[in-house]
Amino acid sequence: MEKAALFPQAGGFLHGGDYNPEQWLDRPDILDEDIRMMKKAHVNTATLGVFSWSVYEPEEGSFHFDWLEEMMDRLYENGIYTVLATPSGARPAWLDAAYPEAMRVGKDGRRAHHGVRHNHCMTSPAYREKVRIIDRKLAERFGRHPGLLLWHVSNELGGECYCPLCVQKFQEYLAEKFHHNIEELNQAWWTTFWSHRYQDFTQIEPPFSNGEGSIMGLNLEWRRFTTWNMTDFMKEEIRVLKEVTPDLPVTANFMQLYPGLDYRKMAESLDVISWDSYPRLGNDYETLQETMAETSFHHAVMRSMKPEKPFMLMESTPGLVNWHPFNKVKRPGIHRLASLQAAACGSDTVQYFQWRKGRGSFEQYHGAIVDHLGRDDTRIFREVEQIGADLEKMARVTGTTVHAQTALLFDWDNRWAIQDVKALSEQTKQYEATCMDIYKAFLRMGVEMDVVPSTADLTPYRVVIAPMLYLLQKETARNLTSYVKQGGQLLATYFTGYVDENTLCYLGGFPGDGLSELFGVISEEIDTLYPSDRNAVRFADGTRWEVRDYAETLRVQDAEVLASYEEDFYAGTAAVTRKICGDGAAYYVAARVSAQEMSSLFRTMLAQAGIKTKDLPEGVEYHVRSGEQGSYSFYLNCGTQRAVIDSVSGTDLLRSKAVDGALTLEPGNVAIIETAQQV
Ligand code: GAL
Repeated sequence: MEKAALFPQAGGFLHGGDYNPEQWLDRPDILDEDIRMMKKAHVNTATLGVFSWSVYEPEEGSFHFDWLEEMMDRLYENGIYTVLATPSGARPAWLDAAYPEAMRVGKDGRRAHHGVRHNHCMTSPAYREKVRIIDRKLAERFGRHPGLLLWHVSNELGGECYCPLCVQKFQEYLAEKFHHNIEELNQAWWTTFWSHRYQDFTQIEPPFSNGEGSIMGLNLEWRRFTTWNMTDFMKEEIRVLKEVTPDLPVTANFMQLYPGLDYRKMAESLDVISWDSYPRLGNDYETLQETMAETSFHHAVMRSMKPEKPFMLMESTPGLVNWHPFNKVKRPGIHRLASLQAAACGSDTVQYFQWRKGRGSFEQYHGAIVDHLGRDDTRIFREVEQIGADLEKMARVTGTTVHAQTALLFDWDNRWAIQDVKALSEQTKQYEATCMDIYKAFLRMGVEMDVVPSTADLTPYRVVIAPMLYLLQKETARNLTSYVKQGGQLLATYFTGYVDENTLCYLGGFPGDGLSELFGVISEEIDTLYPSDRNAVRFADGTRWEVRDYAETLRVQDAEVLASYEEDFYAGTAAVTRKICGDGAAYYVAARVSAQEMSSLFRTMLAQAGIKTKDLPEGVEYHVRSGEQGSYSFYLNCGTQRAVIDSVSGTDLLRSKAVDGALTLEPGNVAIIETAQQV
């Protein structure tokens, strides 16, 4: 069954973004102008109500929704749909005054004062009740509005709370997880160390900044609990919305690789994945191509949470932000490049924060489509208008998806465990950067990669890379072993399989839980190099990779040695191995080398798997979306030179003309080539 576009009523991509008419209710002239200018900019969606609680309910129990109804009606009459947020991302003053338990307690044990946003206690029964009430009112009043497309739950849920209610909930969560058996917890967390044994679940505190921080299992479980509790809070909102409007989809906007929450757990309760993308485009420490490739990685993380359908780019800035270390404006054309990249990676929407700049407060200088100048002929307005026109030309792309045949394993639990582990070097652990580096290497070869958990169904993938998979979930080893036996090409690296899901080390050899049999090696030592230390590994054909940061020494059991170390006391010992296992192969790379260098091995694996690489000109990023209606190849020139791509044929959607032969792309330009071919 082919999938549909996320929002068929819109007839193509959603284009629009956060809109705060409640800040302008005393300026009907401006609200009129907004509608006129939205139409000019090809805007067909507005996200309303993200922070509207104090206008909806200025006093407890007194609700004012007429302005919203008027707004949604007018937008709809003008062809603009609404994404409606629940307002739980920021609280009115009366609420905190009446229910102080809604205000979060920090890691230092201090309760916050009223103010700012994204800082509620997730447990507070009083807050949950207030949120349920307003959500129900919104759903009952607007749930059947013909312009309403989607619920947007809260805003960028994040952070953690250490209040007494949360502490108690944590203890209850632990008691349930460890079967009300404190001995089981003591074992799992190795608490005899430093005399930290607990007698009762009520003795356990979360890792306060001046409290217990030395139990790795506790630290990890606190993060899992925070995700669980935040998801529970979110699910309570969703429950109310679904009770009233069972058929309306629900999303919650994610923040890139936000470390505080395991988004994959939250994703299970959402109908659509959406995220907010604010890359530091134009920075002075990497090329545009690199920054773009990182964003592409982030898109892949999001896409891979629900690969069967498109995702949403919920927020991006049309101009600049006000919170980067340096708030550089996007150069001409760059916003278009980034917006079309989102589409290339599988988004059915290009949305912004924000439609119009506010006059005051924290975000008064944050970029928007409409500036304080208030005109529709600014550079940024015109660029947005152009993107809107482009999206209309490529409407057929919506509903298609990206079909990656390779995957990178990336786990939040593993991330947390690596961040917390007292080993290696704090300066060079770099788990996320290591993953991204590998993703980028595949991108440069024109090979699409999903980013999935180690427990994912790996059967859609023919090549899987598992960098630094330090912590193994219960099912990971079994999953990887059966993947390889069934013909998969798998590569793992140093620092794999040291601990179980509670961060207890495996005994009898790393990688543990049966993985040393899969790879045919045991890692005996791991050496952390100083930043200027170097080693190298050499292959039989003379290929040499430079080693930095980490190098494991291996006991080779029954694997083939492909490369050995060149230097130091482990010179001549195995560094890269392969073991054929069933119909597949398990590679182990025992040291940190750049993904660029490792590409020679990636190419071998890809060839073995029958996946073609693409010879892309420098700077060009390539993605393919496909579905029943056809296949759409996106070429994005993120480089500084004109690029010529050979042997391209199909219809160039943005230029509405046929291409057959060489495709020329100026820097910053994009081509989307449609072919009839189905997948
Ligand atoms: C997002 C947030 C928006 C706005 C934006 C500014 O993280 O959801 O409300 O603050 O950042 O870049």
